[in-house]
Amino acid sequence: MNFQLTEEHLAVQEAAREFAKTELLPGVIERDSEAKFPKEQVQKMGELGFMGMMVDPAYNGGGMDTVSYVLAMEELSKIDASASVCMSVNNSLVCWGLEKYGTESQKEKYLKRLATGEVLGAFCLSEPEAGSDATSQRTEAKKEGDFYILNGTKNWITNGSSASIYLVIAQTDASKGHKGISCFIVEKEWEGFVVGKKEDKLGIRGSDTHSLMFTDVKVPVENRIGEEGFGFTYAMETLNGGRIGIAAQALGIAVGAYELALAYSKERKAFGKPISQHQAIQFKLADMATQIEAARMLVYKAAWLKDQGQDYSHASAMAKLYASEVAMSVTVEAVQVHGGYGYVKEYHVERLMRDAKITQIYEGTSEIQRIVISRGVLK
Ligand code: CAA
Repeated sequence: MNFQLTEEHLAVQEAAREFAKTELLPGVIERDSEAKFPKEQVQKMGELGFMGMMVDPAYNGGGMDTVSYVLAMEELSKIDASASVCMSVNNSLVCWGLEKYGTESQKEKYLKRLATGEVLGAFCLSEPEAGSDATSQRTEAKKEGDFYILNGTKNWITNGSSASIYLVIAQTDASKGHKGISCFIVEKEWEGFVVGKKEDKLGIRGSDTHSLMFTDVKVPVENRIGEEGFGFTYAMETLNGGRIGIAAQALGIAVGAYELALAYSKERKAFGKPISQHQAIQFKLADMATQIEAARMLVYKAAWLKDQGQDYSHASAMAKLYASEVAMSVTVEAVQVHGGYGYVKEYHVERLMRDAKITQIYEGTSEIQRIVISRGVLK
């Protein structure tokens, strides 16, 4: 067993850390307050290769492993989880499946531009009445000649307005249950496609979350990914990997809050000495550090299993479940260590606390992760 990161991993980690400090930190409080999408920052992330890290260089990707990806996600999420979710969706939920199951012409036409960040992608599974219960898709795609006619509404779509390419899951045969669901590549400019309301969120306020409406959108048959009926399995497989990215995001949020609390505890004096010299604070820091280390092991292991070509569906659910719970508890404690200062925007930890909550909800709630894990345990 080797817990050592390679030189390449360390270089990716350092590059991401530097980028987060110099490019994401300035303005992060304002972007959060104004719910402003980090457009220029995401563009630079593309230029640095963060938007298609694991994609084969033949399709303009970075050709890196999943461990590199989680290291970068962790660093960016320490500072700006709104920028990192955009990166996670593009890498894990859009590029990954297109590369694995897309046709050559789909990869040429879409993946090459997505992998460089020239365009952004969105993954459209959730609906007003199909969140955790993802098989209950109401959006339907009816085949008519060389096209599918797409009708329906999607909700909670990350990169909803900033994306140009959308992977849309829709029912193609209601009588077949989850085997009657398919996935399609949809372009933003197509007639009948409307980007709806932007959500005003508690956290990750810089990321643009929208509802999407499709009315008689004509989708060419060649834009279906995989066979008809493969869409549900496609979505589940995609989410297995996506959960590693969100687990890394949760880990990064926790680390960001912990590092701020640690530094603050050494500066802030109370009762004649730095608060880090009081046992009440020391115990908090010890618990935070221990939880973070345990979460990190789960996240890196899930990424490593994926890189080894081994089954990672349960490992990714465990990583996401635990890391998101750690993100929540560590950020709450980081606010507590800061006292009143923790409750104001300037000190960053209140934002991290708000951002942490979504990691227990998207790409499957904590309850869904427990379902996935228990199925692995009981099989
Ligand atoms: N990996 C691969 N395949 C899987 C799978 C997994 N983790 N889970 C289920 N499947 C397959 C099953 O093998 C089965 O296939 P076969 O019939 O061929 O054997 C099929 O899917 C149906 O499985 P189930 O009967 O188990 O399905 P279910 O209805 O009980 O639901 C579930 C399973 C785990 C609850 C699933 O619905 C689920 O994961 N729900 C959560 C959805 C989710 O995470 N949504 C997030 C939206 S995306 C998002 O949040 C992105 C963002 O904005 C950041």
